Amino acid sequence: MPAIVIVGAQWGDEGKGKIVDIYTERADMVVRFGGGPNAGHTLVVGDDKLVVRLVPSGILRAETTCVLAQGMVIDPRSLVTELDELERRGIKLAGRLLVSDRAHVIFPYHVLIDGLREKGKDAIGTTKRGVGPCYEDKVARRGIPLGAFRDTNRLRELVGRAIDDWAPIVHHLGAGEVQVPTVDEVLAAIEPTRARIVPMLVDSQALVERTVRAGKKVVLEGAQGTLLDVDHGTYPFVTSSTPTAGGACVGAGIGPTRIDEVVGLVKAYTTRVGGGPFPTELHDHIGERIRKVGAEFGSVTGRPRRTGWLDLPALRYAVRVNGLDALAITKLDVLTGLDEVKVCVAYDTKHGRTEDLPMDELDSATPVYQSFGGWTEELGSARAMTDLPKAARTYLEFVEKQAECPFILVSTGPRRDETIVLRDPFPL
Ligand code: IMP
Repeated sequence: MPAIVIVGAQWGDEGKGKIVDIYTERADMVVRFGGGPNAGHTLVVGDDKLVVRLVPSGILRAETTCVLAQGMVIDPRSLVTELDELERRGIKLAGRLLVSDRAHVIFPYHVLIDGLREKGKDAIGTTKRGVGPCYEDKVARRGIPLGAFRDTNRLRELVGRAIDDWAPIVHHLGAGEVQVPTVDEVLAAIEPTRARIVPMLVDSQALVERTVRAGKKVVLEGAQGTLLDVDHGTYPFVTSSTPTAGGACVGAGIGPTRIDEVVGLVKAYTTRVGGGPFPTELHDHIGERIRKVGAEFGSVTGRPRRTGWLDLPALRYAVRVNGLDALAITKLDVLTGLDEVKVCVAYDTKHGRTEDLPMDELDSATPVYQSFGGWTEELGSARAMTDLPKAARTYLEFVEKQAECPFILVSTGPRRDETIVLRDPFPL
């Protein structure tokens, strides 16, 4: 099983950090294939914690090569901050962290525009990291790949052109009061990062494809989640990339025939950050409790996450869109102590009841719930399904059957050992 793709099956924040870390233990390479500094996960280095947004957690394993592939958008200043933080903690990066020279650069003007838009009436609650405007430039064919960092004259020319294009929009959004940064200002902000980044640049497509073809173990790590996908998510309340499994092929540059397994991550409940429909959202003390116990606050922005019950029509949708082979269910322990656990099994819509996700009617559809008894026992010490309390097992068995996808792993706490591994995607 050399190449596995790991994707979020909900609106992101499904606990990818921990699961990717478990799967990375025996991986030769971890590849991030899309998104940018809008993702965030916490790395634990000794007694110390740091939040990284671009570098995969595999960086903590000395034998693992980490790749930021060309489907990503990279803010060079965020990247260098992460490199500094990692090096300060004694983590060796040379030759282990490689960056695609075709990944696109997030410049200060992208961050400025993202922030200005979020002040307006069309705000969708982005992370304000410049991700959307950078992907816009890429698709508009005026984006700047990191490879341009090798040639300062070319970089100056491309930045000049991009600023000319964005200037009227900045004037409009800023009501004439916000200054458009000059080429010199943008280049001055970027210059200190160039010497650090240029030696890391590679043709990541060739590297990843060669590694997969050699039969090495490769983890393609998704960011965000299925329902934030620009094509398959709750548009327009989505990110600007393709966090679904197909995005792994496009973003890393390998064909679908090279992927051996696609694993989806799903929380035992649902969360969402930012605006957009969320039919199973809880606005009561149970939602508040899940937020508190599950520490549901954005790791990039610190925003409180919206919380709600698990949505099976949405999960089945994710299983289909990604072609999931298996599901890893996380944060089951967060539900411990609730008297009752509910799960959405269908929707009532203007056109009747449906077990599918009514994507066009999410604002008006009413979730139909099935209720399960809660449990109070601590779950973290369970190492097999049979160690779990009966009520938790009943809930999981129902979800697995309804999701139409087998579980590969159940996570019962933040620690690595608080995990029930049902199958190893990298068997020896
Ligand atoms: P953007 O990706 O910053 O443009 O934000 C677009 C939408 O995606 C917003 O609703 C964000 O809250 C959401 N989003 C982006 N990245 C993540 C993530 O890593 N986890 C959860 N939500 C995210």
